[in-house]
Amino acid sequence: MLIRKIDDMHVHLRQGEMLESVLPYTAMQCERALVMPNLMPPILNANDVINYRMQIMEVLSNTKGKFFAPLMTFKIVPTTSAAEIDGLKQAGAIAGKLYPDGVTTNSQGGVSDFKALFPVYKAMEECGMVLCLHGEMPNAFSLDRETEFLSVLKDVALNFPKLRIVLEHATTKDAIDCVKTLPANVACTLTVHHMYLTLDDVIGGALNPHAFCKPVAKRPKDRLAIIDAALSGNPKFFLGSDSAPHAISAKENACGAAGVYTAPVLVPALCQIFEDYGTITKLEPFTSQFAAEFYNLPLNQHSIEIVKEPWKVPEVCGTIKPFLAGQTLNWKVV
Ligand code: NCD
Ligand code: ZN
Repeated sequence: MLIRKIDDMHVHLRQGEMLESVLPYTAMQCERALVMPNLMPPILNANDVINYRMQIMEVLSNTKGKFFAPLMTFKIVPTTSAAEIDGLKQAGAIAGKLYPDGVTTNSQGGVSDFKALFPVYKAMEECGMVLCLHGEMPNAFSLDRETEFLSVLKDVALNFPKLRIVLEHATTKDAIDCVKTLPANVACTLTVHHMYLTLDDVIGGALNPHAFCKPVAKRPKDRLAIIDAALSGNPKFFLGSDSAPHAISAKENACGAAGVYTAPVLVPALCQIFEDYGTITKLEPFTSQFAAEFYNLPLNQHSIEIVKEPWKVPEVCGTIKPFLAGQTLNWKVV
């Protein structure tokens, strides 16, 4: 079966050898991907955007995946000023990503005064840039962080009715319900791993560092709400994998890094969920249409072929353990 090549609206491609190792998987399945800016040092200004894009394009030129375009972002920090936004747009950034202080990988020194950035949101609204929110409230109890952040989401959405806002990687029914009630300028990305995992997969038995990510997987009812939203055909919900590679040594560690590396299994793992919980025909709008419409991008012009044919996910891809490592999946990208 052919499906339109997909848009992954939230991916961590990293830099250097890690970039070389992970980019082929994304480029093979995705025609576009929104590339996250939480590098060390982060993507903060127009030059950073241009340089990081060049690094990606250089690796891409040695990669098999054809017809792939990175969509660039910058990181919104407490010192970001409204005056920088036009330059960032001209450098090719289509979205700004806001990380609340300390809630995830490389978010130290992030935002805690969300209102102080109102002039930045205003400038983004005026130039048609998208605001991507990591929706977790700093210092809240870990299972309540996303729910407590929803007041910030509502506040920004209602104050900036023309600003397009994406609540990234929703993990709770509360967040899904909230996004549904907000106006059409608010959308939400969903990951594939949060369609598979609950907190029990992380800490219910022996600790599994490879299922640990931010926001952490929650309750069974939350997992079902995510699957339900993905299958609903509601255009507010589209794919953002949050594929977040870390070397095995950084995951199996007393200070284990947060992030699940889903890029190698992205489309097959999604096919399985869509088949098990609904129908495979609902996949394409979720992966290849709704994000394009929200971001005002043309629909992708190329296709990928998916077949129902069992294959075993490798235990490791380079230095990284992929999601569903060692398991047999029923769907495959040709
Ligand atoms: C991401 C990473 O590793 O960069 N980690 C994660 O657990 N999702 C950062 C993020 O998106 O929160
Ligand atoms: Zn992420």
